[in-house]
Amino acid sequence: MIKAITGTKDILPNEIPKWKFLEKIVEQVFQSFNYKEIRTPIFEETILFARGIGEETDIVSKEMYTFIDRSQTSLTLKPEMTASVVRSFIEHSLASKQSLLKLYYISPMFRQERPQAGRLRQFHQFGAEAIGSTSTLLDVEMIQMSYHILRNLGLKDLTVKINSLGTPKAREEYKKQLKKYLEDKKGRLSEESRKRIDKNILRIFDSKIESDQIVMNNAPLLIDFIDEESKQDFEAVKEILNQIRIPFEVDPKLVRGLDYYTKTTFEIISGKVGAQSALCGGGRYDLLVEHLEGKPTPGVGFAAGIERILLACENENSFKLPEEKIDLYIVKIENNISAEAAGLTSKVFDIATTLRRKNLSVEFDYLNRSVKSQMREANKLNAKFVLIVGGEEYKSGYYNLKNMKTGEQQLIPFDKLDSILIQNSKVKGQK
Ligand code: HAM
Repeated sequence: MIKAITGTKDILPNEIPKWKFLEKIVEQVFQSFNYKEIRTPIFEETILFARGIGEETDIVSKEMYTFIDRSQTSLTLKPEMTASVVRSFIEHSLASKQSLLKLYYISPMFRQERPQAGRLRQFHQFGAEAIGSTSTLLDVEMIQMSYHILRNLGLKDLTVKINSLGTPKAREEYKKQLKKYLEDKKGRLSEESRKRIDKNILRIFDSKIESDQIVMNNAPLLIDFIDEESKQDFEAVKEILNQIRIPFEVDPKLVRGLDYYTKTTFEIISGKVGAQSALCGGGRYDLLVEHLEGKPTPGVGFAAGIERILLACENENSFKLPEEKIDLYIVKIENNISAEAAGLTSKVFDIATTLRRKNLSVEFDYLNRSVKSQMREANKLNAKFVLIVGGEEYKSGYYNLKNMKTGEQQLIPFDKLDSILIQNSKVKGQK
């Protein structure tokens, strides 16, 4: 049997309502903050991510889906959106049209990580990028939007963690100090962390291995090395967060896994999803645009993992969706005389067509089932009404309409049918 690739998942019809519900909330929140949607291609030239995210990061060095196409170009399925959005921003000179761009996206991403609960190889993110301003209000806006979305989904067990990574210059100085600190402790570090000393020293803070954590507990902290401007901005971010009453924790060990960050970074953690607990993450990237050969332009953004959020929603039982219903199921009373049966089928099809044109949701039987199993199907589909077509009444131009909630049946002429259905559709707030 051919199966889906490890780490990818079909989103089956019964799961779609949850996704739609989440996407609706996401779009509402982004629209209320005046963000406009952007869609970029699924793949890009590999160099975009290598340069944008950083050669030594886990994403670029271990996790990208990279392939050479028939014209010998190295392409990569996007592992994140920020580099793509910035590429598009530069390529289309979007800054010339508007000095601050507020963009959002919902898109699949690809990383070849070891699959586990909340970690996939094709996963989906929603996120936002604001390009063109250094205002700390935008740093806060990112935290605010992601927090609003998660709260609107009914999530409660959330921790907002923030940190400042300062400027690359301050970070370089700090890295030297950290290296010095680790000099005589190398033997106590795991092999993976030892390798990171020269390649990506900050990520040693992310190690889940106890012996690494013990060493890192007493390590010097970046926050004590950052420059004055970054410090002031960080204070401002904290103050505004307090002002709008978003609870947060300062986590000096929050380093994030992408190289483009400067100043503010943040993550929102769920206490209900196990090891892969970061529901979203983001921060400022004031040097990325120029790093990708655009005019120096500051930016800030975040992205959130949809599968992980839905897992948290399930574990917190955070929202209930209304039951799906259809407006009408048409039951055909089959007849032995096949000419008449064919006439009935064509009548049922006509009725369905007329009502579907009016945006009512209508279903009927395609499998020549008995009246009894058609009724069973109507129940399974949560039909609000059942229309019985056939028999004596039908010949006189009247149909038997059954209200499935009250059990009440009435004989009605065809021209009354749509108004009854439409009225009931509206009453239930379905259309
Ligand atoms: P990131 O932290 O790499 O940041 O990913 C953001 C979120 O995507 C994570 O918090 C997680 O919920 C989800 N995620 C990441 N990898 C996986 C995976 N393998 N399976 C399931 N979910 C996953 C970024 O991607 C940055 N582009 C965020 C950003 C935007 N920073 C500034 N602007």
